[in-house]
Amino acid sequence: MHNLTGVREDKDIVVRHFLDSVSLSLCLREKGVKVEGLSLCDVGTGAGFPGVPLKIYYGERLELTLIEAVAKKCSFLEYLRVRLGIPYRVLCKEAQKVQEKFTVVVSRALGRLEEVIPLMEGLSEKYLLVMKGREPEGDYDYCKIDLPDIQSYVLFLAKTR
Ligand SMILES: C[S@@+](CC[C@H](N)C(=O)[O-])C[C@H]1O[C@@H](n2cnc3c(N)ncnc32)[C@H](O)[C@@H]1O
Repeated sequence: MHNLTGVREDKDIVVRHFLDSVSLSLCLREKGVKVEGLSLCDVGTGAGFPGVPLKIYYGERLELTLIEAVAKKCSFLEYLRVRLGIPYRVLCKEAQKVQEKFTVVVSRALGRLEEVIPLMEGLSEKYLLVMKGREPEGDYDYCKIDLPDIQSYVLFLAKTR
């Protein structure tokens, strides 16, 4: 019984965090964004979602930066980088204080769209993708992710200037 529960919890972690994170690649493909050589920043990454699974998925094609405000989480991300042997940068500060720009800026469970979008716009040269559990309200372009275990939405914004 304990084992069964454990398996279910493991499956939940794999599906809810890892597969959900990688499912963002479907939206990039749907919108015709070529990832080769571009810089991607994950804002408010927490334990590394969706950034780290995306880096595992895309490998060297993608240059990844993680932004996280909480020092303890940043320490975990640095530890994870060494354990996994995967190159990425961790900027341990509030996103508002980051001066750099990235081609693609993504976020997952970062907060309300009215606050998250302006924050991400300040970091983005071209594309913003905001992962959402439910259909975004308002006049936004988005991808609908509809997989056997994952139904979610990714708001997609392309900067025109
Ligand atoms: C709910 S968690 C989501 C973590 C991860 N994206 C996920 O989907 O599991 C939100 C994270 O964003 C971080 N955060 C919130 N506001 C931030 C900001 N302005 N700059 C950087 N990190 C921020 C928090 O510390 C927290 O780790």
